[in-house]
Amino acid sequence: MVTIRQERPVDVAAREALLDVSYGPVRFTKTSERLRVGRRPELSLVATDGRRLVGTVRLWPVAAGAGRLALLLGPLAVAPDCRQRGIGTALVREAVREAARRGHAAVLLVGDAPFYGRFGFSAEKTGALRLPGPYERHRLLGYELAAGALDGARGLVSARGQLESRTGLVPPATGRSRATRITRAA
Ligand SMILES: CC(C)(COP(=O)(O)OP(=O)(O)OC[C@H]1O[C@@H](n2cnc3c(N)ncnc32)[C@H](O)[C@@H]1OP(=O)(O)O)[C@@H](O)C(=O)NCCC(=O)NCCS
Repeated sequence: MVTIRQERPVDVAAREALLDVSYGPVRFTKTSERLRVGRRPELSLVATDGRRLVGTVRLWPVAAGAGRLALLLGPLAVAPDCRQRGIGTALVREAVREAARRGHAAVLLVGDAPFYGRFGFSAEKTGALRLPGPYERHRLLGYELAAGALDGARGLVSARGQLESRTGLVPPATGRSRATRITRAA
């Protein structure tokens, strides 16, 4: 049974190992990483199958141009032997649902439109935004949790929010802790 829940400090090593397997060392060179490094994520979710961590997604506070708050989704990864079972979909859906529940207005990411389009992400309103480094413009996607939240979005996407704690560990989850079972993924 696969379950989605908030990440705990004990998950960090397995999450990092999964990201290494999924992206390799290039993950540290991505422009979106500049918006994450040294920051505390707003939301960290993991998918677990029994005691094994099989998926991860995190969302980070950013400014989508001056004065416009948003979250940056990523990285998203599912263990190679667990793909095509709906876990990635469930992680994105739960992340977006929780972001909306917390009152956030928009989510950005750099990713493949053929995958993220199914959740409603598109490049329609991100063309005048820019990231602090190289990226493929058509892969900067946005999703409005509040209608019109990305209308007229323009300018630099920049990091905001709290700095990571000195231990590098994820702080205890605040608010209600929930676990979601995935029915499609056995
Ligand atoms: C992308 C990823 C998270 C998907 O996880 P998953 O658990 O296999 O996803 P799901 O089972 O929910 O969905 C699988 C569907 O997504 C599609 N898909 C997966 N990666 C895709 C991509 N990069 N582009 C387009 N479609 C993609 C699959 O073809 C499949 O389509 P189908 O439902 O029509 O058969 C996983 O493949 C992964 O970790 N990849 C390596 C890291 C990565 O590339 N992440 C970023 C993606 S932009």
